[in-house]
Amino acid sequence: MKILSVVGARPQFVKLAPIAGECAGRGVEHVIVHTGQHYDPMLSDVFFSDLGIPDPDVHLGVGSGSHGVQTGAILGALDEVLATHRPDWVLVYGDTNSTLAGALSAVKQQLRVAHLEAGLRSFNRRMPEEHNRVLTDHAADLLLAPTRVAADHLATEGLAGRTVVVGDVMIDVLHRVRDAMVDTGRVLADLGMPAGGFSVATIHRAENTDDPTRLGAIITALQQMDHPVVLLAHPRLRAKAAEHGLDLDGGALVARDPLPYPQLVGAVSQARGVITDSGGLQKEAFALRAPCTTVRTETEWVETVELGWNVLVEPGPGLREAASRPAPGPTDATPYGDGRAAAAVLDALLAH
Ligand code: UD1
Repeated sequence: MKILSVVGARPQFVKLAPIAGECAGRGVEHVIVHTGQHYDPMLSDVFFSDLGIPDPDVHLGVGSGSHGVQTGAILGALDEVLATHRPDWVLVYGDTNSTLAGALSAVKQQLRVAHLEAGLRSFNRRMPEEHNRVLTDHAADLLLAPTRVAADHLATEGLAGRTVVVGDVMIDVLHRVRDAMVDTGRVLADLGMPAGGFSVATIHRAENTDDPTRLGAIITALQQMDHPVVLLAHPRLRAKAAEHGLDLDGGALVARDPLPYPQLVGAVSQARGVITDSGGLQKEAFALRAPCTTVRTETEWVETVELGWNVLVEPGPGLREAASRPAPGPTDATPYGDGRAAAAVLDALLAH
């Protein structure tokens, strides 16, 4: 069997790692296509080197652009790549423009497509990721859902017959990285943060960065926190803050560049909390039992909220209060699986 993975953005490299490992372990031919949506070394290359992912077989180098330009460039470039490789399965990941373009290109060439992380819904149709998810799920032949809730969404949309619940591959990676013993002392020393006494923050979504008033309110709340906050600043956040004339550093807030994955896991494992608008980080915080404060009006990862480890807030004093709250009581819940999702993905691809 031959699988061709289409990836392009940071969270997709993390999800690719256990799939690439599982393919190698089973001797399954695996072609990796990097669209080039993310190209900064800290958003791309370090994930391949740190997580032991083979170099991409094909790099499309499309770079940044408006949604139409970026999605269209990937779509145009993939025609020839898919025609050359003719895989048994095209595997697309998550909800980015690379995901949608990969799925669309494959169905137009009569190739079978599987969507990893299928069925997530925010029900917020203003989010580009929500368009990408819904369109990809309805185009794909096999829907690999991370949770029961995701499978229920697919069933509601008439897609139950194509759905398999496999668990969440991000838990596979997290277990592997955590067990490989990150030097957390070193990570904290580099960040200048006290063990157990700081929060890790990331903000990058358009709905939070592009409106100067909203971004200003988020930054002010973080600067007024009652404990140190390290903000791992995505290039989009830095660009938008500069454009709006906002200083990230000040008060409790220290801005740093994004961290490689093992260092991120190390930092979160030592933090008193996480403040974010990232999807993946909400789950990683839960898995590492750091209370999470999510600066969004809704989340796809409802299990983290139901279990009491995540709260949704608006920018302002509510954010400050939520991010200072103590951790809830312990839980041994595993809503995202047992860290063996990649094996379930390969089983499903082989069975279909
Ligand atoms: C994309 C995904 C989002 C995901 C995020 C992870 C879409 C619609 N969004 O958002 O779902 O959570 O990746 O990080 O696909 N930039 C750089 N260097 C890079 C990449 C981007 O400087 O390597 C800057 C550029 O100014 C670019 C902006 O960031 O225009 C946005 O990048 P883009 O890939 O369009 O979307 P993300 O915000 O990263």
